[in-house]
Amino acid sequence: MDRETIFCKADEEAVRKAGEILRNGGLVAFPTETVYGLGANALDEKAAARIYAAKGRPSDNPLIVHITRREALGRIVTEVPEAAERLMDAFWPGPMTLIFQKSPEVPYGTTGGLDTVAVRMPSHPVARAVIEAGGGYIAAPSANTSGRPSPTKASHVAEDLMGKVDMILDGGEVEIGLESTIVDVSVAEPVILRPGYISLEMLQGVVGKVSVDQALLRDDAGIRPKAPGMKYKHYAPKADLKIVEGSEEAVAARINELIRQGREKGKRIGVIAAKESAYRYQGGIVKTVGSREEDLSIAQHLFGILREFDTLGVSEIYSEAFDTPRMGQAIMNRLMKAAGHQVIKA
Ligand code: TXA
Ligand code: MG
Repeated sequence: MDRETIFCKADEEAVRKAGEILRNGGLVAFPTETVYGLGANALDEKAAARIYAAKGRPSDNPLIVHITRREALGRIVTEVPEAAERLMDAFWPGPMTLIFQKSPEVPYGTTGGLDTVAVRMPSHPVARAVIEAGGGYIAAPSANTSGRPSPTKASHVAEDLMGKVDMILDGGEVEIGLESTIVDVSVAEPVILRPGYISLEMLQGVVGKVSVDQALLRDDAGIRPKAPGMKYKHYAPKADLKIVEGSEEAVAARINELIRQGREKGKRIGVIAAKESAYRYQGGIVKTVGSREEDLSIAQHLFGILREFDTLGVSEIYSEAFDTPRMGQAIMNRLMKAAGHQVIKA
């Protein structure tokens, strides 16, 4: 512990204090609608550097700059393409981050040395109040130690960052549970660099042609993702996580067999299942992540369950696949990364 961390409810007085800390170059963790963020003044290179130190984050992994008003954009980007205007009209404030060409006002310490800058306008009232109080330009990566699952509750932030940041604002559980969709609009045709709540179909509905970064579609290590952060091993639980794919019956039979084999060797085995199929598993530690009928509930609880397993001391975790229509792309992107792309076909 190298500094004292204030942990408190995100009331008006706490937000005022958070603003003061941010304006003085300090670090404040706060809730957003996606995941908790770790904020610092984005236009102050020294403040941004503290974020990297607290998270243990590689310095070439750029930060997202959070704003609350469209007028704020002019100071940090050089041009706003037509497609960006339409996407902002449709999805801001909300869980979408856009990549623009940066202006000289944004330090390279914030963009990881890139000439582009990621910008997001969150909708969460606490996030908005903190950004305003802190001066209007707040760099905020997810508020976890680099490599751990993103925090969806204030207690997750405390687990990772107590003693490393100035303040943690508790605003309860987040709504979405997976980080924002990142769309590169600095190129001719918009490209999704990270899937999220705002899906490919929703983006296409607004701007027509949108593509997906090839590196997200294959687990081929040879293709370099355009969002530098997507190349790192992420969200990794301590146990060996594998995804089991196939029909509901075949998946359950295979996982039950793996549980039996594990138990014979004296191992504790974890299972991540949907509400609809959880009853099929016997002998393991079964966690119900959410309902396939309402896949936002799966997104909301996935990272929290990965964290829970870390405290339960299981040595292997088997997860169902969740290729649901609405949020399946985003959920499977995070789950595949957590599993290091290990998939068993049942
Ligand atoms: O929902 C979210 O976006 C959350 C909340 C706190 O707002 N923030 C978040 O930040 O997820 P972080 O730092 O955990 O993820 C940012 C991602 C990284 O993969 C990074 O490489 C990418 O955005 N990124 C940032 N700036 C970029 C740029 N200029 N070009 C390409 N990718 C960029
Ligand atoms: Mg992150």
